[in-house]
Amino acid sequence: MTYMEEAKVKFDALKGKESVLILSVESSCDETSIALVENGRNVLANIVSSQIDIHKLYGGVVPEIASRNHIKNISGVLEEALAVSGKTLQDIDAVAVTYGAGLMGALLVGVNFAKTLAYALKLPLIAVSHVHGHIGANYISYPDLKPPFLCLMVSGGHTAIVQVEDYCRFKLVGSTVDDSVGECFDKVARVLGLAYPGGPNIDRLAKEGENVVKFNYKTPLKDTCNFSFSGLKTAVVNFVHNKEQKNEEYCKEDIACSFQELVTDELCTKTMKACKDLGETKLVIAGGVGANSRLREKMGQYCQENGVQLFVPVLKYCTDNAAMIGAIAYYYILADKGLADLSLTARPTVGI
Ligand code: KG4
Ligand code: ZN
Repeated sequence: MTYMEEAKVKFDALKGKESVLILSVESSCDETSIALVENGRNVLANIVSSQIDIHKLYGGVVPEIASRNHIKNISGVLEEALAVSGKTLQDIDAVAVTYGAGLMGALLVGVNFAKTLAYALKLPLIAVSHVHGHIGANYISYPDLKPPFLCLMVSGGHTAIVQVEDYCRFKLVGSTVDDSVGECFDKVARVLGLAYPGGPNIDRLAKEGENVVKFNYKTPLKDTCNFSFSGLKTAVVNFVHNKEQKNEEYCKEDIACSFQELVTDELCTKTMKACKDLGETKLVIAGGVGANSRLREKMGQYCQENGVQLFVPVLKYCTDNAAMIGAIAYYYILADKGLADLSLTARPTVGI
């Protein structure tokens, strides 16, 4: 049998297997991560090697440096994941990997590593979308959570409202027409002189400020489920530059707080509109910006007022990690989706 014939037989057999152990690989941006996840819900190990301290020096992720560090770290991350899980490579049933969306060079490291492992172990290789992975993070945090539900996807690469009709059936309800919300947080943080990644620093600073700053900004795309963040980003940047040019004092804490209030209002209002329009009563938040404390708090209030049940992943599964890739990969197997051959390559963009 060829590798692919054997992989297909094993892939099909996994649908009826009681315990399926997936080794998953994630390298789409600046985290090198490998996890071992059983049946989509039980995380045996989730090792995340972050490059944040390196990219901080440059104020953002430098793709070439990210790729080189993935290469440097990935074997050690695998060894650690196996050690923590108490499993060996022989215990694994399938290898899953993020093939997109993300930085091309960074993704290629994970994809080639996963292909090599799958081929050497004669195991099925499962190509997973990073966005689906972020949604899958919730299956780890909530063992009883099942589709259908509505998802607000808020990360550095994506901002969208997605109808999750089934584990592997997604419908786009609305999305950003320009910047992602994560980019907007990072840009505003940068103009305030805060370190990369800006989101968590804005979150922290905003707690010490008051919502008193008025930016030259009007909420765009009202009465739709689409977002636009470039206008808000520019309004905050202009506000700060204007103050600096006039040598006027400004309070960074208040700017962070007022900016965060506007962003979270926008996210909560449009997500609630989508819930109402579609009659959804379950809402899931996914992606790095889902770690934002004000978003979690405010969405909680909106959901309570509107009779919607809210699910937010525990913080460590909001930002990039391989456990979420292993979680959704299990449902790919059950839905007969994602089996890849050795021609698999990375994709910088992937549709929902
Ligand atoms: O999902 P993620 O780790 O990577 C992508 O798939 O893009 O998201 C990263 C984004 C960054 O823009 C980061 O600033 C933002 O998530 N982020 C936050 C917070 N934690 C991470 N934004 C606001 N508040 C936070 N607490
Ligand atoms: Zn991500």
